[in-house]
Amino acid sequence: MIINEFKRLVGWAALNYVQDGGIVGVGSGSTVAYFIEALATVKNFIKGAISSSDFSSIKLKQLGIPLFDLNDIDSLDVYVDSADEINRHMQMIKGGGGALTREKIIAAVARKFVCIIDIRKQVDILGKKFPLPVEVIPMGRSLVSRELRCLGGQPKYRCGTVTDNGNNILDVYNLKIFDAVSLEEKINNIPGVVTVGMFARRGADVVLVGSEQGVQIIE
Ligand code: 5RP
Repeated sequence: MIINEFKRLVGWAALNYVQDGGIVGVGSGSTVAYFIEALATVKNFIKGAISSSDFSSIKLKQLGIPLFDLNDIDSLDVYVDSADEINRHMQMIKGGGGALTREKIIAAVARKFVCIIDIRKQVDILGKKFPLPVEVIPMGRSLVSRELRCLGGQPKYRCGTVTDNGNNILDVYNLKIFDAVSLEEKINNIPGVVTVGMFARRGADVVLVGSEQGVQIIE
């Protein structure tokens, strides 16, 4: 209950990064749901949104926020999304909700990534608690699993989950992530991998942390 209050605080605080007349990149998940709620209150002052998941698209449409196709725009000022874990270098594990691929594409276009989290998401070392999600082409699932085992991880097939792109998710446990950039590259290079939920090469630019103390801004 209280965690939801922290999520609501940061979801609304992220409105400060939304520019008049602009298009806003919108992530996915329960924290972002509060941001979408907040965004609806300024919908007449923005052009619209680029959405990272079918779930967010439905919510945005329901609230009357126009949706744009990323292919129709050249740049994006801001992307607001959450994370499953974040370290002090602003590197993140994302993909708990399975929307990692579209999230990574939008993050790559955005000039500013505003990460909104509750305090539980801050960690010293990524991957110790939360497994690293990897989106894979279904026919490559076994190959990718074997390769992930060679990297020291224990992949688990997220049974029954089909991503918005028609793919599968492997959740990789017990990876010791000391060099997040290098691990991101290694996993991305395995044939059959669509995206790894390690956001290290392109981390967050601003982090809003919700806690009992209110919203802490880390830049
Ligand atoms: C979805 C994500 C989410 O940002 C992440 O799972 C956090 O979600 P929540 O706000 O529900 O805790 O990466 O793919």
